[in-house]
Amino acid sequence: MKTSVTAIKGTKDILPEEVKLWQKAETICRQVFEAYGYREIRTPIIEPTELFVKGTGETTDIVTKEMYTFTDKGGRSVTLRPEYTPSVVRAIIEHRLYLQPAPLRFYYFGPMFRHDRPQKGRYRQFHQVDIEVFGEADPALDAEILEMADYLLRRLGVSSPETLINSVGCPVCRPNYLSLLRQEAEKIKPRLCEDCQRRVELNPLRVFDCKLPGCQEQAALLPRITDYLCAACADHFAAFRSWLEFYGLNYRVEPKLVRGLDYYTRTTFEVISSGLGAQNAILGGGRYDHLMKLYGGPDICGIGFAMGMERLLTVAKLQVEEERFVYLAGWGEKAKPIGLRLCRELRRLGIHVLLEYKEKNLKALLSRANKLGAAWVIILGDQEAELGVCGLKEMKTGVQRTVSLADLGNILKRLEAPEKTLTDFNSKEEPKP
Ligand code: HAM
Repeated sequence: MKTSVTAIKGTKDILPEEVKLWQKAETICRQVFEAYGYREIRTPIIEPTELFVKGTGETTDIVTKEMYTFTDKGGRSVTLRPEYTPSVVRAIIEHRLYLQPAPLRFYYFGPMFRHDRPQKGRYRQFHQVDIEVFGEADPALDAEILEMADYLLRRLGVSSPETLINSVGCPVCRPNYLSLLRQEAEKIKPRLCEDCQRRVELNPLRVFDCKLPGCQEQAALLPRITDYLCAACADHFAAFRSWLEFYGLNYRVEPKLVRGLDYYTRTTFEVISSGLGAQNAILGGGRYDHLMKLYGGPDICGIGFAMGMERLLTVAKLQVEEERFVYLAGWGEKAKPIGLRLCRELRRLGIHVLLEYKEKNLKALLSRANKLGAAWVIILGDQEAELGVCGLKEMKTGVQRTVSLADLGNILKRLEAPEKTLTDFNSKEEPKP
């Protein structure tokens, strides 16, 4: 049946079967991040608009075209966050977390909002898992972050991801490069799209972000930033690469990888996967050594990345363990309160119980349990209830035993071990020694 109200274009529901995959991926992310010393942080979805205008950058596509911005009832311009990095920097300054011993390592999961043209792998509400590190300038950290990303993607079953890296320089070397770039971009301007023509004026670096093949062809003729790095940035880049080699990580230097956000300095990177189509970046990130200061905080450097969960789950090969649960239904009048009490006790023992209220005969009950994929069925008629027992049927083997209600929880707990079956139990409730 089609409802008259449907989800907003570019957003999607994540239904229970799929949620299991998300949970599995999130659990692996948490395990990996925590092993590397990251702690979870949570910030609001809604932020003052100026946070992104200032940090993400006035000339970026995100800020000029894609933000969900509106005036709230107090007359303040607010934005549904399009990315996470500015929010975490704000929170660190606001709560003076920078006073804690460096480096600070944080991770975060949550929805982001960008009003772009929806297509495969590009949504208006999408989810990122994000990590950020503050207070460490050593290029070995840049490599450690990619080493963690590589390990994480392996754990998530992503086959043959490709790592692209670049350096976008710093406030010392970038202005000279930008004026040269502008001069050169002026020459090809007539052959660029309208957006890129504007970019040449405002921020010629953004020409490299354009996805149109014509613009990409032209952008390939422009000078590359890696040829114009100052000595300090060149040293940082060389050291970063040698640490990547130390970790045995494969990578490709991609001089056009300037990333679509303004705050980056020095290291930028993306991990792409051929299984994703046009939107092929699973994760992207880099250094942003001056962002904290830009927001009026202390001069503390930062680096991080964000991974798109929807894109990740398109290419991740994750095994979700089958959920084993007990099915309880079909009691008579007298058995009902006993069944409900039993159900509560089992649930408190951590046993998953699927409870249904409709009365069914035994045949219908077993067929329904089978359809639902129950591992066990509790058969509790009035007669059993009076005797303080129930039938316990194991669906996989078809074995059925009469079990005392007092022992049921204990038996089910033991049956949770995958190698155990009801045949390991004697005819009555007593388990074999
Ligand atoms: P970003 O490259 O804009 O970087 O986004 C990171 C990842 O989010 C992308 O690689 C992609 O997987 C996913 N993503 C982005 N836009 C969409 C979309 N419309 N639909 C689906 N997935 C999408 C950032 O957001 C930076 N804050 C990353 C960062 C963290 N840099 C430093 N720290």
